[in-house]
Amino acid sequence: MQPSPPQLDPEFEALLEFLKSSRGCDLTNYKRSTLKRRFRVRMEAVNINNYQSYFKYLESNAQEYIALLNEIFVNFTYFFRDKEAWDYLAQNIIPQIVSNKQADEPIRIWSAGCAAGQEIYSLLILFAEIVGIEFCLKRVKAFATDVDEAAISQARQRTYSKKEIAGIPPNLLKKYFTKIEKNYIFERKLRQSIIFGCHDLAKDAPISKIDLLLCRNVLMYFEKQTQEAILTRFHFALKNTGFLFLGNIDLLIHERQIFTPINLKHRMYVKEENLEIENLLIL
Ligand SMILES: C[S@@+](CC[C@H](N)C(=O)[O-])C[C@H]1O[C@@H](n2cnc3c(N)ncnc32)[C@H](O)[C@@H]1O
Repeated sequence: MQPSPPQLDPEFEALLEFLKSSRGCDLTNYKRSTLKRRFRVRMEAVNINNYQSYFKYLESNAQEYIALLNEIFVNFTYFFRDKEAWDYLAQNIIPQIVSNKQADEPIRIWSAGCAAGQEIYSLLILFAEIVGIEFCLKRVKAFATDVDEAAISQARQRTYSKKEIAGIPPNLLKKYFTKIEKNYIFERKLRQSIIFGCHDLAKDAPISKIDLLLCRNVLMYFEKQTQEAILTRFHFALKNTGFLFLGNIDLLIHERQIFTPINLKHRMYVKEENLEIENLLIL
């Protein structure tokens, strides 16, 4: 027997509907347990203990909406997050991608849910270290997207504090960043290889012809059905033999085997070719 779907809380659902209709912010695909936890943090911060009153508070306090989004779209990230996995990527996957290409063929990489940019800059540094900066400028096309506009605008600025650059090895820091007063600014020329954009994984069409797609520590926020729909779009986004790199704590949940794991420890998958994509669920 199928387990019955969890009962939705009407007051909480009304709050989500309000955010969707008044702000265009659709949180209905996110896991309710996680969402409720985050809402509660904000409600406690403003001393409110029920969803109806918080609804009214949100209607009359524009600043609270921003605080709530910051709480929900946890932008926590850092350079070379899960270092061992990045070492694996550098030693095994990037060289494979490069050697499978024809001369002058572009290499397309996408960081989906890129937060303030640390992930895509880490990736470009790895490519530049492996193939050289000039090759990168000529051949690598990088895309970095997030649903959170504030995070994207921070990413575009390529500017990080001393605390934020802590995970970068000193030789790479020296080579790829310029220190200006207290901050570290990512190399201007390489930055031009990246197109940043606002993109909602739960709704928007994917970028196409991707060789390497990073979606790390994002999928876990979504309900199972939405996770599957996102993975189906990723399947479409990737070229045949394209790689999908998830976060250390992410699980790949899909009713069909649309990706083959090539290193489970580091959450590296390759696209399963020749699948009838029309038969897969796209929301
Ligand atoms: C915990 S951070 C992960 C950042 C980075 N990928 C990493 O692993 O360090 C999660 C990111 O997912 C983004 N996110 C949440 N919902 C999203 C959605 N529907 N579409 C795109 N990005 C989303 C958040 O804004 C946040 O920047």
